[in-house]
Amino acid sequence: MALEISFARQADAAFVADVTALINRVYADAEKGLWQPDTQRTDEPEVAAVIAAGELAVARSDGDLAGTVRVQRLPTGEGEFGMLVASPTHRGLGIGRDLVAFAETWARQQGMPTMQLELLVPREWTHPVKDFLREWYTRIGYHPIRRDPFEDAYPHLQPRLATPCDFVVYHKPL
Ligand SMILES: CC(C)(COP(=O)(O)OP(=O)(O)OC[C@H]1O[C@@H](n2cnc3c(N)ncnc32)[C@H](O)[C@@H]1OP(=O)(O)O)[C@@H](O)C(=O)NCCC(=O)NCCS
Repeated sequence: MALEISFARQADAAFVADVTALINRVYADAEKGLWQPDTQRTDEPEVAAVIAAGELAVARSDGDLAGTVRVQRLPTGEGEFGMLVASPTHRGLGIGRDLVAFAETWARQQGMPTMQLELLVPREWTHPVKDFLREWYTRIGYHPIRRDPFEDAYPHLQPRLATPCDFVVYHKPL
């Protein structure tokens, strides 16, 4: 497998549609039970805007779209990654690990002292995908710094939830 990770530069409609479909397909499975049916993680205008801002890195395996990660500098100075996705047909091959490493290298090169991520978790039960992520992020150096109610951050999206959720914010010193 020849894996390449780079910032997406092209934003033609077919590419935006492919990326949007991949992110929505992966999140529909990974966040099953957290959202009302038919709630989508993102849409084409948002993905096009993220690409235009130079914030979306894409993994290609032998030329095929195999994963994504969004990076940005927060107003508070930390780097943050999100929209971390590996295609279901390319799991367990190190694509997620390489995407996180790419995001961390990008933030280090920009002089950011810390990388942040937010993990959406159900408030009253445990979710197997989220448990896997919590364990993995801990293994690679992330630690929780706070837990915020989802509705505080996104009150307008709260009716879309199927169950009460929190954001656990993780940091890793770079
Ligand atoms: C998170 C995600 C991107 C990881 O992608 P991936 O390419 O399959 O992961 P990797 O192959 O890089 O493996 C990541 C870690 O999980 C471990 N792992 C991978 N597959 C595993 C499996 N089947 N069982 C146990 N551990 C596994 C790897 O050993 C690795 O751990 P390490 O870094 O300590 O060695 C992918 O699972 C995904 O798209 N999840 C859904 C979207 C999501 O929830 N994103 C995060 C939002 S915060």
